[in-house]
Amino acid sequence: MKNILVTGGAGFIGSNFINYILSKHDDYNIVNLDKLTYAGNLENLIPSQDEKNYEFILGDITNTELVKYLFEKYELQYVINFAAESHVDRSIISSKEFVTTNVLGTNILLDVARKFNVKKFLQISTDEVYGSLGRDGLFTEETPLAPNSPYSSSKASADMLAIANFKTYGLPVIITRCSNNYGPYQFPEKLIPLIIINSLNDKKLPVYGDGKNIRDWIYVLDHCRAIEMVFESGTNGETYNVGASTEIENIEIVKLILKYLQKPESLIEYVKDRLGHDRRYAIDSSKIQSELGWSPNFSFEDAIIKTIDWYISNKDWWNRIINGEYMEYYKKQYKI
Ligand code: NAD
Ligand code: TYD
Repeated sequence: MKNILVTGGAGFIGSNFINYILSKHDDYNIVNLDKLTYAGNLENLIPSQDEKNYEFILGDITNTELVKYLFEKYELQYVINFAAESHVDRSIISSKEFVTTNVLGTNILLDVARKFNVKKFLQISTDEVYGSLGRDGLFTEETPLAPNSPYSSSKASADMLAIANFKTYGLPVIITRCSNNYGPYQFPEKLIPLIIINSLNDKKLPVYGDGKNIRDWIYVLDHCRAIEMVFESGTNGETYNVGASTEIENIEIVKLILKYLQKPESLIEYVKDRLGHDRRYAIDSSKIQSELGWSPNFSFEDAIIKTIDWYISNKDWWNRIINGEYMEYYKKQYKI
């Protein structure tokens, strides 16, 4: 058995990862440590919650004593660190929580992981640490870190601490840097779920600046498979970029969603640009493709429709979030 501490597993990517991994591996014991911030939602984990090799722990990665206790109690051998404050706009309003969780929290996990001689520490990072691209070029693993937002700066700091732990102490650290994810269970503050939900509610669709900023989109399950492969066979001390070569302007995505939902483009509202708004992200994932044999399974054309359909079929899920009622629902439904 592999005893794995997954942090932030009640968030968007972490919950998709846990649901995916438990459906595939009987030999993984998952201990999910999550603080349940506004972005954490136990409803996302309903497919996993009754599995015998799954345990949820409500707690904070900055709580050193708790983290140590979990390592002892569950004899943890592996860490996959998803826990983070993840929204750029929130980081522009206030960066404190970003530094606390993303930097200090990661450092605490690294310290405890070292003390307990973990076999692998996977740091889930982002392509945003590389900064912004002009019209040409791609982020490779050799691209210098040049973050622009408080969010990406905190993630870059965490990456550097992770690498320092490998270089200084030989901790078996691996970093993944993925591009923008979309799919089920994404908190409706991020572009794609926000636009789908506002469109369904006939509400205005805020498009920042000229709408021509480019993101490189990947379906969340392709990211989860990449994490699985890096976890299974990645090389310690290495970084792997993950992306599906799907560069799209924001405005194109907004128009595509409107068209599919048969809603008018008059819902689009151009608003003041985000401060320090990165213009373009585009990722070169040839390293993970050639070294580990990963490649994306989902095309954007299919997976965006699958995603829109998921939000149409799961109105109760996002209505409970919007109304702040999901925790009461969860407690009642599952008698806790
Ligand atoms: P999310 O905001 O949906 O979820 C974050 C989770 O972390 C939540 O469940 C939250 O409760 C938990 N959390 C926050 N602070 C915590 C703390 N101090 N202790 C314990 N738990 C805490 O984020 P996401 O979109 O699922 O992203 C997960 C990871 O993947 C992040 O590290 C993010 O930087 C990275 N990432 C995200 C994307 C993306 O497109 N969403 C792309 C690349 C990398
Ligand atoms: P977001 O989903 O916040 O991801 P990130 O900033 O981490 O890439 O935003 C994706 C893009 O969409 C980004 O260029 C900002 C833009 N955006 C809007 O135009 N309107 C919105 O309401 C949001 C949330 C984002």
